[in-house]
Amino acid sequence: MLGFEIAIDRLRSDAAPEARARVPRNHLDDRTPRRPACPMAERELQAYYARDEERDRLSVGVGRVEYLRTVEVVSRTIPPPPAVVADIGGGPGRYTDWLVDAGYTVIHRDLVARHVDEVSARHAQAVDARVGDARSLDLPDEAVDAVLLLGPLYHLEDGVDRAKALSEARRIVRSGGRVYVAAISRWAPRLDGVLVQRYHPKHSAILDMVDEAEATGEMRPVHHNSFNGYAHTPASLRGEVQRSGLLLESLVAVEGIAFALADLDERLADADERALLLDTLRAVEAVPDLMGLGPHLLATARQP
Ligand SMILES: C[S@@+](CC[C@H](N)C(=O)[O-])C[C@H]1O[C@@H](n2cnc3c(N)ncnc32)[C@H](O)[C@@H]1O
Repeated sequence: MLGFEIAIDRLRSDAAPEARARVPRNHLDDRTPRRPACPMAERELQAYYARDEERDRLSVGVGRVEYLRTVEVVSRTIPPPPAVVADIGGGPGRYTDWLVDAGYTVIHRDLVARHVDEVSARHAQAVDARVGDARSLDLPDEAVDAVLLLGPLYHLEDGVDRAKALSEARRIVRSGGRVYVAAISRWAPRLDGVLVQRYHPKHSAILDMVDEAEATGEMRPVHHNSFNGYAHTPASLRGEVQRSGLLLESLVAVEGIAFALADLDERLADADERALLLDTLRAVEAVPDLMGLGPHLLATARQP
């Protein structure tokens, strides 16, 4: 996701968790991965990622802060390697790369074939990378020790779909395993998209979109090459995770105020300044009054 652009380019439910049948863990299903249907929303998603701007997003600026902070938060509770981690909605695989380098066995699934191909090209047989839909995974119950769900909720406008994705993450993780769930903050369109990134001179529709997005969470496309998305309040993310049957352990702001720092790259290039920045973000990451300020939220939840 391009800082906010994906947010402006990007998605209600009280569905109960599904009953689950148990099968032995770490026993991968040999069914052919389900190729998802391709309704309008998915065509928009495919077109968006065909722009190939996702690959380097986490390397610079606020994307780099997103990456560093996500690795930091996940590292607090993920079991040590060797363990099996599913990177669902793994995109071009930056977190998959991190996990492989750290010694984990990684399963990568994404709706976009191009992303899967990139991961396969880098990791060959070492990563089980396939096209797959977070709402209907080709993995058996309790197959993995942890799940990263860092992206699908941005794109799933319908709460029933978000509930399915969370339910699937819960189903495939073993008892006691963690699920890490990222979401776009409800106020990102206004604070990041308009105020910081100034999308409005080029895409004036964003000025009409922000009020509705803040009222409903639904982010309408603001130009032809974009798609619907969903932005969470801290309370709505908390509620959706809890209704999935997972136990919410923590909810933090990922980048916090960093997205608004004009000299962010300079700070990141200086070891002392970078450490001060990350210390500051950590110190206020769970302060309720500040939680929705930054672009992303990250929930850590546990399978009971
Ligand atoms: C913004 S990218 C994030 C990629 C990576 N997880 C990261 O944080 O850098 C969102 C990813 O979620 C994928 N995605 C969206 N909806 C999905 C779904 N229903 N199932 C699987 N992947 C999905 C998209 O194709 C895209 O690669």
